[in-house]
Order: sequence, then structure tokens, then C-alpha cells
Amino acid sequence: MKKFCLSCSSLNWKILGVLISALILYSCDTGKKYHSFKPGELWLDDKDIHINAHGGGILYDNGRYYWFGEHKTEGSGGNVANVGVHCYSSKDLYNWKDEGIALSVEPEGSGSPIEKGCVLERPKVIYNAKTGKYVMWFHLELKGMGYSAAQSGVAVSDRVTGPYKFIRAGRPNPGKWASNTSEEMKNMEMPQNSGPYPGSSLPMHPDSLNIHKRDYEGGQMARDMNLFVDDDGKAYHIYASEENSTLHIAQLTDDYTDHNGNYVRCFVGRFMEAPAMFKHEGKYYLMMSGCTGWAPNAARSAVAESIMGEWKELGNPCIDADSALTYHSQSTFILPVQGKPGKFIYMGDRWQPENAIDGRYIWLPIEFEGERFIIPWRDEWTWK
Ligand code: DGJ
Repeated sequence: MKKFCLSCSSLNWKILGVLISALILYSCDTGKKYHSFKPGELWLDDKDIHINAHGGGILYDNGRYYWFGEHKTEGSGGNVANVGVHCYSSKDLYNWKDEGIALSVEPEGSGSPIEKGCVLERPKVIYNAKTGKYVMWFHLELKGMGYSAAQSGVAVSDRVTGPYKFIRAGRPNPGKWASNTSEEMKNMEMPQNSGPYPGSSLPMHPDSLNIHKRDYEGGQMARDMNLFVDDDGKAYHIYASEENSTLHIAQLTDDYTDHNGNYVRCFVGRFMEAPAMFKHEGKYYLMMSGCTGWAPNAARSAVAESIMGEWKELGNPCIDADSALTYHSQSTFILPVQGKPGKFIYMGDRWQPENAIDGRYIWLPIEFEGERFIIPWRDEWTWK
């Protein structure tokens, strides 16, 4: 029979006490709510409000990540820009602090290209070390004109969180040919029906319609977009052009606020949206979607030795159930984790067009397999 041992039992209670306090301390962990990613779940900020930064991108600056995205509002009318670009910051990528509206829309009736009710999508911010300015680019559609304007907007700020000052909107590279335009295309007689082609499917191959030439004078269409800064400090604007049929990769000026005229046409006639670029072991990778509006479709991926191509398509990087719908999401950014070479995070949007503010975020790990990258599904995961 066991003897009752007073000193042992009080020791046990002490150990238990220490364990419980450690558990409480851990769960409070200086107010941290999250210790992992849970793709598709509500994701609350420091004020317990679902993060409102759709079609977003991330800039790492002075030890913090800054997430910029579209501030959506309730209902289907919440897909237009009623507020502006929202910014959040984080040190660990799980817990996000609301930093407020970085770029505000202008009042209704002001006549500004970014007046309330315009379409302002996929904002991205990069830092220019030469000027010391933060530069924001976004896809802009003028109020009441659907998606026909296909412009790019630019705004700058001295502080990462803003306020950003809107400086210009327009179409990229007017009066400039893409560097890989053939002489045949330049000299081609324009077909009679070469007016605007709304929507994303064209009646003919884009080169027969020569939309590139059609838009030569006024500038190339630019819808879904991203930015990429290379190791040498050169920055690029990547956008769906030519009625969404063809992707353009365009170099920016040294101050990142304009295009410098050097650009290429890629994936001609492949109708890709939602481009996201990253670089790994000297190679450039792109992830994109097809064109099905707010509805998800199968993602695409591609690799190149040089940013201006030749690009080689690698197929759908998603590998698990629902891969044909990119896990019900659409790419918006691929984030390199700071100080962890080879670690990248896929950032996608699970759009809710009927109640735009409820859009969810699908963040997943990127892995490498041979020459391609893949994106496995995870219900819950950490980047460590
Ligand atoms: C798909 C694009 O990727 C989104 O950014 C948005 O423009 C929707 N189309 C609008 O239908």
C-alpha cells in the first residue's frame, strides 16, 4: 500500500501551478491572438475586426510587415472604392495592427480620378531608397465606366503608413512599342472592328485584332497588377493588358513613379489575371489566374531566367483537393518571409462579391519541386 507523502503532493501542486501560469502566460503572450494561419477563417485585427485589405500586397520595412489592400464595404456595392486603401502592420505575420487608411478616395463629385465610387483594386507599395519615398500603384477604373478605362494610379508618401498623396493615373507607355513587338504588327493595317472589346474573351486572337497597336497612341490597358523590385533595385509593373488577353511586364523609372518605356508582352492570348511575381535562387516565378470575374479558376504558373522573358508556363501550382479552383481563391501576392531564404507565402483572396467586406484570405506555404513551385493546402500552419 502506498504511503501518503505530504511533501510529494505539495510539490506536485507546485509543478501544476507553474504549468498553469506558463499556459496562461503563453496564451496571453503579450496580447497575441494568433500563433498560426487558418486559411479562409475570419482574421481579426488588433481591434477584433476582420482584416479589410483585399487584393493586397506586403512591404517589409524597418522590422515590420505592412499589408496594404482594398478596403471593401458591405453588400455587392462594397466592391467599388468607398473608402480607399487600408494598411495593417505586423511583426509575426499572424497578428495585425490596424494602421488606418493609407490612401483615401476623394469626395464624390470632386471629379478626381480616385473619387468615391471608382474602382481601385490590387494596391501595392514599394520603397524607393533613392528618393526615400513610399510609392503605391493600383489598378484604377474611373467612376461609372465599368472596367473600360483600364488605368494605373500612383500615389506617394514619406511615411510607410501614409497618408499617400495621389499623383497621377493613366495608361502605361503611350507611344511606345513593347520591345518584343514584331515589325509585322507595327505595320499591320488595323482591322475595322478594332474598337473596345468589353469583357475578357475576344472574337479573335489578340494579335489578329492588334490591340497592342490599337492602344499604341493612348497607352496600353492595365487591369490586374502587381509590382516587383529586383535585387538591383529596378522595379517592374506587371499587369493584365490588351483586354486581359496578354500580360505586360514594364520597367519603372528610377523613382518608381512612372514607366520608362521598356516593356514586354508575355503569354499572348492566354487571358491571365492576378499576377504575382517572386524570385528564388536566381529564377523568376509568376503565379496568375484565368479570367472568370470574381469566381475562382485554376491557377497558372511560369518560370524565367530573366524577368523580361522568355517565360515558360509550368501549369497549376495547387496540388490538393479543390486545386482546380485554387482552393477557392485568386492570387494577389507572393511574400518572401524575411530572413528565411526559400520561404514564401502564397496570398490569395477568397472573394465574396455579394458581401465584399466578408472576403477571406487564403495564405499557404510555397514549396519547390523540381523546376516548379507547388502550393499544398493546409487547414492550419505556421511559417517557422
Ligand atoms: C477579377 C480580378 O482579378 C479582380 O481584381 C476584379 O477585378 C474582378 N475580376 C472583377 O470582376
